[in-house]
Amino acid sequence: MAKKLWEKGTTVNPEIERFTVGRDRELDLLLARYDVLGSIAHSTMLESIGMLSTDEMKALHNELRNIHGIIENGKFVIEEDVEDVHSQVELMLTRRLGDTGKKIHSGRSRNDQVLLDLKLFTRNRLQGICHSVKKLFDALIEQSDRHKDVLMPGYTHLQVAMPSSFGLWFGAYAESLADDMLFLQAAYRMCNRNPLGSAAGYGSSFPLNREMTTELLGFDNMNYNVVYAQMGRGKCEKNIAFALATVAGTLSKLAFDACMFNSQNFGFLKLPAECTTGSSIMPHKKNPDVFELLRAKCNRLQALPNDILLIMNNLPTGYFRDLQIIKELFLPAFDSLNECLEMATYIIKRIEVNKEILNDSRYDAMFSVEEVNRLAAEGMPFRDAYRKVGLEIEAGDFTPCKEIHHTHEGSIGNLCNEEIGTIMENIYSSMDFEKANKAERALLER
Ligand code: ARG
Repeated sequence: MAKKLWEKGTTVNPEIERFTVGRDRELDLLLARYDVLGSIAHSTMLESIGMLSTDEMKALHNELRNIHGIIENGKFVIEEDVEDVHSQVELMLTRRLGDTGKKIHSGRSRNDQVLLDLKLFTRNRLQGICHSVKKLFDALIEQSDRHKDVLMPGYTHLQVAMPSSFGLWFGAYAESLADDMLFLQAAYRMCNRNPLGSAAGYGSSFPLNREMTTELLGFDNMNYNVVYAQMGRGKCEKNIAFALATVAGTLSKLAFDACMFNSQNFGFLKLPAECTTGSSIMPHKKNPDVFELLRAKCNRLQALPNDILLIMNNLPTGYFRDLQIIKELFLPAFDSLNECLEMATYIIKRIEVNKEILNDSRYDAMFSVEEVNRLAAEGMPFRDAYRKVGLEIEAGDFTPCKEIHHTHEGSIGNLCNEEIGTIMENIYSSMDFEKANKAERALLER
C-alpha cells in the first residue's frame, strides 16, 4: 500500500524526503487528536451530500474512534515513510476499510486539514492558558488584599522615590494580566472560525456543506473566503503568538522584580526555601533559579511573533511549504508558557513579604513628597513647600512622618481590586469554552 498520498511511481531521494518531512513526524503527533475530530466532521458532511453511504460513514467513524483511542493511550505513531499525521490517519483507515478509507479525502486537501488541526489544537491550548492566567490573577489579588497595608519603597530610575505597598505591587501584575486576557480573548475568537472546505485554498466543485462542519466542530463561524482561509495560516499563529507574548511580558517583568526584591540588598521578599536552589561551592546560597528560568523562557516567548512574522511575512497568497516550519516554534509555545504560569502561581501563593522594610532609615527620603503635600494642603504654595523640604533633606534634618493617606482610585489606600476583578471576570466569562468542548465530545460519540 502506498505510504505517500501523492505517490505516482517515481521514487523520492531519501535525503529530499528527510529534508521536506523535517520534524513533522514528531510535531504532528500534537495534532493527531484534532485530525481525527476533523475527519469525523468531514465524513459526516460527505455522507450528508451523498459522497459516502451511511454504512461507509459509520465504518469510518468507528475506525476514527479507534484511532482516537490509540492516540489517547499514547500509542499513535507516524510510521517511517509516512509524511505527516494526515497521511498516517488516511493510511490507517485504508488499511482497515479499503476503498471506504480512500474516499475520505474527497473535497479536502492537506492544506485545509492542517489549518483545521492547528485551529482545534490552538483553541484547546488557549483554554488552558486562559485558565492558568486566571489562577495566577487570583493568587496575585489574594496577596494584594492580604498585604494591602504593608508599605515598601517605590522606585524611579531604581532610586528610592515614593511610598508604595505590596498591595500595589501584587495588584499591578493582576491588572496587567487582565489586559493580557483581552489579547487572549481576541486570539480565541480569531482562532475559532472554521477553515475546513477551503481545500487547497480555492474550494471544491463538490457541494460541500461548510455550515454543517462549522456546527459539528463547535466553531463560532467560518473563515468564509477560501483564499482568506488559507491566507490565515501563519497570520493566525502570529496573532495568537502576540497574545502569548503579552502574557509572557507580564511574567518576565514579575520574575525580574521578584529576583531583585529577594536579593539580600533589598530583602523585601522571601521565596520559600523549597522554591530555591543551592550552590555547589557556596553553602549559604538559596538562589531564585525558578524566576530566572521563567524570565528567560518568557523572554524567548516574546520573540515568537517576530519569528513567525519573519517566516511568513513576504509570502504571496496560496499555500507554501514554508508554513510547515511555523509549527516547530508555535506548537511547543503553549506548554512552555503554561509551565511558567503554573510555576509563578505556585511561588506567588507562598512568597513572604517583609513587613519591616520602612524601619530602615535609608528609605526615609521617600516620604519627602508626603511632607511637601502636607505643607501645601495647609496653604503653603507647592513650590515653596518643595524647597523647604528639599533644604531640610540636604541639611540632614528631615524627619519623615510615616503615616500616609492615599485615597484616590488605584492608590495605596484604595486599591480597587474588586474593580480589577470585574474587568478580568467580564473578559474571561465571555469566552464560551464549553461550546467547543461539547461539540468535540459529541463528535466522538457519533
Ligand atoms: N506538513 C504540511 C504543513 O504543515 C502539510 C500540508 C502539506 N501540503 C502540501 N501541499 N504539501 O504545511
